[in-house]
Amino acid sequence: MSVLITNIGELVTNAPNGIGPGPFTSASSAALVMEAGVVAWTGSSARPPAADLRVDAGGRAVLPGFVDSHAHLVFAGERSAEFAARMAGQPYQAGGIRSTVAATRAASDEALGANLRSLTAEMALQGTTTFECKSGYGLTVADEARSVALAAAFTREVTYLGAHVVPAEYANDTAGYVDLVCGPMLAACAPHSRWVDVFCEKGAFGRDEAAAVLKAGKAAGLIPRVHANQLGPGPGAKLAAEFGAASADHLTFLDASDIDALAGAGTVATLLPAVEFATRQPYPDAAALMKAGVTVAIATDCNPGSCFTSSMPFCIALAVRELKMTTDQAVWAATAGGARALRRHDVGHLGAGARADVVMLDAPSHSYLAYRPGVPLISAVWQDGQLVAGALP
Ligand code: NIG
Ligand code: FE
Repeated sequence: MSVLITNIGELVTNAPNGIGPGPFTSASSAALVMEAGVVAWTGSSARPPAADLRVDAGGRAVLPGFVDSHAHLVFAGERSAEFAARMAGQPYQAGGIRSTVAATRAASDEALGANLRSLTAEMALQGTTTFECKSGYGLTVADEARSVALAAAFTREVTYLGAHVVPAEYANDTAGYVDLVCGPMLAACAPHSRWVDVFCEKGAFGRDEAAAVLKAGKAAGLIPRVHANQLGPGPGAKLAAEFGAASADHLTFLDASDIDALAGAGTVATLLPAVEFATRQPYPDAAALMKAGVTVAIATDCNPGSCFTSSMPFCIALAVRELKMTTDQAVWAATAGGARALRRHDVGHLGAGARADVVMLDAPSHSYLAYRPGVPLISAVWQDGQLVAGALP
């Protein structure tokens, strides 16, 4: 069945460059046709082609679905007390991850799957149509393997993050744990994963340990991405560049040589401003990255510890207000930027042939996502051309 959305006040297409999303692009008084799960046509609302179903957008804005390229959704338990302690002055500590590891190991597959289902439903309601999902709260061969298998039931962007922290039982044997991550754990997880990630940070994994994990992951056919420079300056960003990682994420503490390395390697900088919001850390320097020609993506980092939001609209508002991005830049980073971070050409834009992942706002322009922060503005969401959240106007 073909669907025509007509009378679109602002259609953000990120006009494709032949293979994937191009620069931020929008048109007024526009229309869009989707058919067989893809965008079939976009153009002026004056003379749209015929379709089986006609939806009058009434001047609302229509955007590509959000691409959340960084999330940790396979976990049990919650850490609101840790958040409250941070807001009372305690710093964020990577070690908190271990308490989620204990809860996750104790949870049944059904409980983990139910949590994943409810978080992904929450994401859809907020306009996210593509998301990445990491393991990293199991940290045994069996618990990491079930984490990636569960994630694979919800998304094809599954990331093996056995190197999230060193679990308590290996506290005195980091080298032994790295061997496990690079050996039997990788072998059990690679069949369900597309990506390999490592938390390269003081208190997690150092440069050489992280390099070993990325090398082994690559040899198993996975593509690297790195948690880098989140809690302080460090080797993560340069390591990501050295390994040709698709993305280096967080990047809160960078120097000029880190930025040059990312620019030179074409590694996407995925900024996670809701983490800084929820940890009271300084925000990363998006302007310096963009000035150096680095592609910037915005994602949620949804996880129970450093940042428990699933809302891309919230992250867009933070990107505008705190990363000092323009509304065009922030919306591009949350759609096309996320697609680049996941090396996807079929999402993040609404050119003909793109996946029909479409968000309609209850607002006339994309800028309302930051102009009206915290207000539920998502009026309808289509994924693969199917209405999955909201309602027709
Ligand atoms: O991206 N940095 C490492 N991992 C997560 C935090 C996980 C947690 O605190 O549970 C992050 O911020
Ligand atoms: Fe993360």
